[in-house]
Amino acid sequence: MAGIDSSSRFNQGIFERFDLEAREYSRIHWTDSEKDQYFDTIPVPQSFPHIALYETFASTAVFMAHEETGNLIVDEKIALEAIDRVKNFCNTQGLGSLVYVYRLLTAYDNLNAINYFGCIPEQEFLRGSWHRPWVKYSLSDDIMMGELFNVLQVVIRDDQRYVELTPKGIDFLPDLHRALDESGHFSHRIRFLHMSQFNLFDDYEKLAEYIWPQAMPFRKHLINYACIKPGMKVLELGCGSGLLSFEAGLADCIGPEGSLISMDPSAGMIKRSMAKPKAKEKNWVEFRIGPAEDLPFADNSFDAVLGCAFLHFTDRDLALKEMSRVTRTGGIVASCHPLVYNFGNLPFFSEWFAPIFQLSAKRNEKPKSFMFSSEEGLASFSNAGLTQIESQEAPFSTVFHDPDKAVKHFIHGVGLFQEELADLPWKARQDIMENLLERGIDVCNKYSLEELVVYWPSQFVRGIVP
Ligand SMILES: C[S@@+](CC[C@H](N)C(=O)[O-])C[C@H]1O[C@@H](n2cnc3c(N)ncnc32)[C@H](O)[C@@H]1O
Repeated sequence: MAGIDSSSRFNQGIFERFDLEAREYSRIHWTDSEKDQYFDTIPVPQSFPHIALYETFASTAVFMAHEETGNLIVDEKIALEAIDRVKNFCNTQGLGSLVYVYRLLTAYDNLNAINYFGCIPEQEFLRGSWHRPWVKYSLSDDIMMGELFNVLQVVIRDDQRYVELTPKGIDFLPDLHRALDESGHFSHRIRFLHMSQFNLFDDYEKLAEYIWPQAMPFRKHLINYACIKPGMKVLELGCGSGLLSFEAGLADCIGPEGSLISMDPSAGMIKRSMAKPKAKEKNWVEFRIGPAEDLPFADNSFDAVLGCAFLHFTDRDLALKEMSRVTRTGGIVASCHPLVYNFGNLPFFSEWFAPIFQLSAKRNEKPKSFMFSSEEGLASFSNAGLTQIESQEAPFSTVFHDPDKAVKHFIHGVGLFQEELADLPWKARQDIMENLLERGIDVCNKYSLEELVVYWPSQFVRGIVP
């Protein structure tokens, strides 16, 4: 459940149901042969299979709530579906494989947190309050297993007990990180966060309008640039709350003789769009939930496929190949997106966001970014087999006048530094977010309004399906 807001809402009855089901399933299926297959002679604590199942039920339920309803409320129906989904996995792959993967992930969370903080007071570690605050049991077995593998130890300093890494633990952590990275764990988590953060982004429209005052003319320009005409069959991807479909006039431009499908992986954003009176009036507009990388449409289905400010959240090559596949021969694929930008060169920005720059400086790198350059954007259009590719670049003003709005929008909302923050232990992430707000207040008092506006480069690209 790492990376998911801690305010996820289960009622007590659902927790009890997860607990009961986990206890019952592990009692029947945790056999000696299951254990030996994955853990050999290692003395696995009795509690492990039960806890692994219980937490996997809970995190699967939160995942499904995000995917299906766009919020964090886990109701009875989702809870039962999550239990079924996890049991189906265990029935085919074995409970041992679930327990094994779960142990790898929690070992990573434990070691990564100790490494980040240097050491963790034993009581905080046992409660998980610095790194796994969602756990509802003591992490004493985690310490016991860590000691058994000689990757962590409890030390006493000034009468206080701390958990710290052993030299073997320090060596092991990068190997574990590499193994999880190669399995796709981190990239999968980032893709999930890119969807879930928009689910939680209730005031996206209000903040986006304030932060990007020029965004609406950009959206309108995209409609022209993609040569949208009345009567066309159009697919809009990453449609969000419907600002391109409705406020910028895409649906009106297509008109009732044509059709528009507005699609986004965030069920929360789609709900906001569907709730608009304009959406209800225009019966030629349909909505779908889903990512651009996996389009549920036949080849050659559309005259045009386009989207605004979404391509940087996708696996770009995959998304553009899908966009190209579902567009008819001679049809158009177009996108408008912000480009990678060296924010670190702006004095106000590097001062404000110093805690993020410090994280990447430890690796002698710039902060990781999911933005791409104009060349990379063009290359992806070309890799997708599109022809007659054209592009335009234009800066759009981005306003950093209000610290609260800027932190909400960039850090909690669009997740500008998600790649840096996602790998931090829970408490470190919370501390940095609070710190960014405080720093923002000082920075906004220090710099002039003009200095606090960034002219962020963006790119319009279009290509034709051969
Ligand atoms: C900055 S918002 C832009 C919304 C809208 N196009 C606009 O102009 O206001 C980015 C949108 O991309 C969506 N998104 C995230 N990952 C995506 C993916 N893999 N495929 C398509 N859209 C994605 C988000 O859910 C979000 O609604």
